[in-house]
Amino acid sequence: MKIYLDTANLAEIREAARWGILSGVTTNPSLMAREAGAGFEDTIRTIAGLVDGPISAETVSEDADGMVREGVEYAAWHSNVIIKVPATTAGLEAVARLGRRGIRCNVTLIFNANQALMAALAGAFVVSPFIGRLDDISQDGMELIREIAAVFEQDPDIRTQILAASIRHPRHVIESALAGAHIATCPFGVLEKGMRHPLTDSGNAAFLADWRAREAAMALAAAAGH
Ligand code: G3P
Repeated sequence: MKIYLDTANLAEIREAARWGILSGVTTNPSLMAREAGAGFEDTIRTIAGLVDGPISAETVSEDADGMVREGVEYAAWHSNVIIKVPATTAGLEAVARLGRRGIRCNVTLIFNANQALMAALAGAFVVSPFIGRLDDISQDGMELIREIAAVFEQDPDIRTQILAASIRHPRHVIESALAGAHIATCPFGVLEKGMRHPLTDSGNAAFLADWRAREAAMALAAAAGH
């Protein structure tokens, strides 16, 4: 299971990259809209310099011609750029056409296994099932990951990876891995929460207190001439 960061915020990417856990980054138009004043090309180029792995850049055209035009442009920014297109029939056509030019695609906004299967058959590099948004409407996001994994497993020609997206909490990451996802793309806060445990904090505090008490006792003994 690989972890990507789901953000266009450079400070978050720099921080998580320092932890040594990142295999890639996903952005989308909503995440870009949160970074006031940041240029899209500059942001993607900067991310590609920070993280050595796939960086998803999403198209905003509604037809295949526009998606292909944007995809060709974005892919020229860096060899790690992956073109994100929506799970629509226009998106499928864009995946097929970009694939013929050697450009890799992430088919996003996947909410059922048919969308994932067709994206894979069109040649998608990754598919992004949105598990949190399914959970939000009382559907089982994790069941979708399991279904896609089983369908992909059944056809040895499918090499498309499953990227669990719309991750809302740390259990989503582990459950996605167990359900067969290859990658989870996480908001920064989910990664931070995933590393937190009260027993780690209390255990660490106890170790440090014991160490300091030992040092103090040794200093006292040294001062007393023992
Ligand atoms: O990158 C797309 C996806 O992860 C969006 O998540 O939280 O907006 O449903 P969310």
